[in-house]
Amino acid sequence: MLCLGIESSCDETALALVDDGRLVDSVLASQAPLHSLFGGVVPELASREHYHYIGALFDELLERVGIKAADIDVIAVARGPGLLGSLLVGMAFAKGLALSLGARLIGVNHLHAHLLANGLEHALEFPALGLLASGGHTQLYRIESSSRFICLGRTIDDAAGEAFDKVAKALGLPYPGGKFIDSLARKGNGDHALLPRPYLRRDNLNFSFSGLKTAACQRMRELGLEGGAAQGAGLENFCASFNEAVADTLRERVRQAWSLSQDIRHLWLAGGVAANRLLREKLEKLAQKRDARFLAPSPQLCQDNGAMIAYAGWLLARDGYFHTLDVETIPRGKKIPDDMLKS
Ligand code: KG4
Ligand code: ZN
Repeated sequence: MLCLGIESSCDETALALVDDGRLVDSVLASQAPLHSLFGGVVPELASREHYHYIGALFDELLERVGIKAADIDVIAVARGPGLLGSLLVGMAFAKGLALSLGARLIGVNHLHAHLLANGLEHALEFPALGLLASGGHTQLYRIESSSRFICLGRTIDDAAGEAFDKVAKALGLPYPGGKFIDSLARKGNGDHALLPRPYLRRDNLNFSFSGLKTAACQRMRELGLEGGAAQGAGLENFCASFNEAVADTLRERVRQAWSLSQDIRHLWLAGGVAANRLLREKLEKLAQKRDARFLAPSPQLCQDNGAMIAYAGWLLARDGYFHTLDVETIPRGKKIPDDMLKS
């Protein structure tokens, strides 16, 4: 079964083909250089760029793989959460293709797809605990199957990646700044006492990063590291302290969730922040302590990509799920309805 995946939820236009669970090829146009001029994603520009690139990327993918559009059995598209105007571009393209080709259509939850992308590189086993940490989301799930995700906790304010990006911006680093903080942190020595690990004593499994971000900006001012003034060891040590505070916070919540779900033997990490080395190390150690298997995608599969949508769509289609042409796109902050149909 050949499945085309279409991703356009934020600032990457990405398409990929998955055949019987294996990635055939993928194409991606990143808008990061455009949005970096504004220090963040500009929604109106993002949808225009998606519209500009999507058709040409589709042609390029078919040409590279050497297939005809009619060979595609399933069209999977990210239906949300994301920027509404951006999602609509991918959705309209997917519906047009499905209608003209007579292919099965499936709207994929972008967040679930990030986590399921681990299946492109490793066998997936259930139940699993899944941590999704990206620029727009931080969610903790109990995953029962490819189609059943139970949300245990989520951020109540900033996402982990957003905190990285905002602190990086205040330090005068380029956007998106998570990877720059990560690489500077590797050269520095973190001071555990410099920054708090906020919200962890609350009696739930949610996250909050805005307090940490505010504390980081305050310490930055006190240390004279603001707005690109910092360089060398001062900057590296500060990045190491911040990196450690975020990684500790994420790890601690996973540990707490796990203590309530003793039957789980699999921990999956995903999303842009999953590229963070310290976070991967901390979660791997946590899994080892529990004699569990830890999965995190390789760096190119951590960021938004078409392969994860194609793979998630393939898994769902294999289990008989599909949508009709009335499937809707869901913006960030709204619940994605459980409206898949089964054949
Ligand atoms: O999943 P993604 O590509 O897009 C969203 O759906 O948001 O995630 C992008 C986020 C950005 O906030 C970026 O700064 C962060 O992932 N990120 C990192 C690293 N690489 C990317 N954060 C921490 N450490 C990294 N190595
Ligand atoms: Zn994403």
